[in-house]
Amino acid sequence: RKTDNQMLVIFGASGDLTARKLVPAIFDLFIAGQLPENYIVLGASRSNLTDGEFRKRVIEESPFLKKKIAKVSEEKVKEFSNTFFYEDLGEDYDTSYDRLQKRILDLDNKFGTGENIIYYLSTPPTLYEAIAKNLADQDLNNQTNGWKRLIVEKPFGYSLETAKELNKGLQTYFAESQIYRIDHYLGKETVQNLLITRFSNSIFEPLWNRNYIHHVEITNAESVGVGKRGGYYDKSGALRDMFQNHLLQIVSLVVMEPPISDKPDDIRNEKVKALKSLRIMRDEQVLYDNTIRAQYIASTINGKKVKGYREEEGVDPNSTTETYAAIKFFVDNWRWQDVPFYVRTAKCMPTKVTEVVIYFKSPHHQLFQSSDMSSKANKLIIRIQPDEGILVKIGVKVPGQGFKVERANMDFYYSSLEETTVMDAYERLLLDAMQGDATLYARADEVEAAWEFVDPILDYWKNGKDVRMYGYSAGVWGPQNADNLIEGIGMWRNPEAK
Ligand code: BG6
Repeated sequence: RKTDNQMLVIFGASGDLTARKLVPAIFDLFIAGQLPENYIVLGASRSNLTDGEFRKRVIEESPFLKKKIAKVSEEKVKEFSNTFFYEDLGEDYDTSYDRLQKRILDLDNKFGTGENIIYYLSTPPTLYEAIAKNLADQDLNNQTNGWKRLIVEKPFGYSLETAKELNKGLQTYFAESQIYRIDHYLGKETVQNLLITRFSNSIFEPLWNRNYIHHVEITNAESVGVGKRGGYYDKSGALRDMFQNHLLQIVSLVVMEPPISDKPDDIRNEKVKALKSLRIMRDEQVLYDNTIRAQYIASTINGKKVKGYREEEGVDPNSTTETYAAIKFFVDNWRWQDVPFYVRTAKCMPTKVTEVVIYFKSPHHQLFQSSDMSSKANKLIIRIQPDEGILVKIGVKVPGQGFKVERANMDFYYSSLEETTVMDAYERLLLDAMQGDATLYARADEVEAAWEFVDPILDYWKNGKDVRMYGYSAGVWGPQNADNLIEGIGMWRNPEAK
């Protein structure tokens, strides 16, 4: 695919994301020779910085680039650094856009970026619409000469209503085809591999339905707590922070029907259809029975004291924000009727892991003795991170007399592909946007469909009558009550088990 000459304008450029994720991603693209001949970055934000100071902060002295820089020559770093510029937007975003427009046009002229511009919104979300409007007021959304694209960071809305407002606001100034809503999970190789596993093999898809699948389990665990992000997190919580976006994206890829092609909208149409078929829970009893929330409480892990959530900096001591969420739900369509989905996400778990587990039904007639009752079923485990790969658990004969069955693993790990370097999610997604490929970006209706499902749960947790807030010690696999969600097998798979 062709990458046009272009400029990247980052709003909120003095923030954490620029130094931590964006610049390292651009650097990797630069080293890999993936940037077009004429490419520049213009950082914009309210901090008072010169071009030189900005370059120092996000490149030359950035802790996030240190290791990468050490591997290349000084000239190379200088060459990279010289393509970065900065514009101080001052305290008031509204009055600074005349200057910004002039700077953009000057730079474009000087460096031949063809008036192709990506605007990256990495500011607090309350500013998104105003920035879009200001750009439009300066005619900076005009595609007569060169294209204009808008990348929008999460969180995309706080609820269904606010997400709809934001969509409407942005679409007033930019066409939907210009808007790229980023979800970094879609940039992960293993998340994309869900599509390949399902639709490029003929052995899984025939079984991928209610006739053969008993249930589906998705675990997303992080070993860290909220750290320094308490202020943000306390207003968000696990459901908004992880479930509404990253996890429902994974769900949509597991649930969706085969798309008619790999074109962005063919894939996204199917994802929207999948999200729309999630059974929305509105009844209080149903919500009570199928949703669990919890907070981590102080604990000692390996002799080290870990703070409880309510003691974290920036968190209200009486906070009712969940750091653990487990949701059981159904998908109302032909393929998935009556197959339960169990999805959990949490901070302060024993380890960092994300995996999808497909539990197949046991054989109808049990001929053989299994060494372990809980492992009678075949499982397909898709490891999103770490130890990226896929694993199938199959029954094999225990050597010796009689017919005893044991589970063995058939596995593939990405790490065994020696020659392949896996692109970082941001690197992949940025390159896609630079080339105008929106497949791995969320469309407006996709985001709204996800909120449609999440909203009633949030509402119940906020206003419901019998809502519980459980506690779990930091470093354990969540509250015990979450095991009760899972019928039949009785508990979640331990992701640390082989
Ligand atoms: C972010 C959340 O979107 O994803 C964070 O805001 C979370 O709270 C992070 O830690 C997890 O991403 P990853 O790629 O480390 O799984």
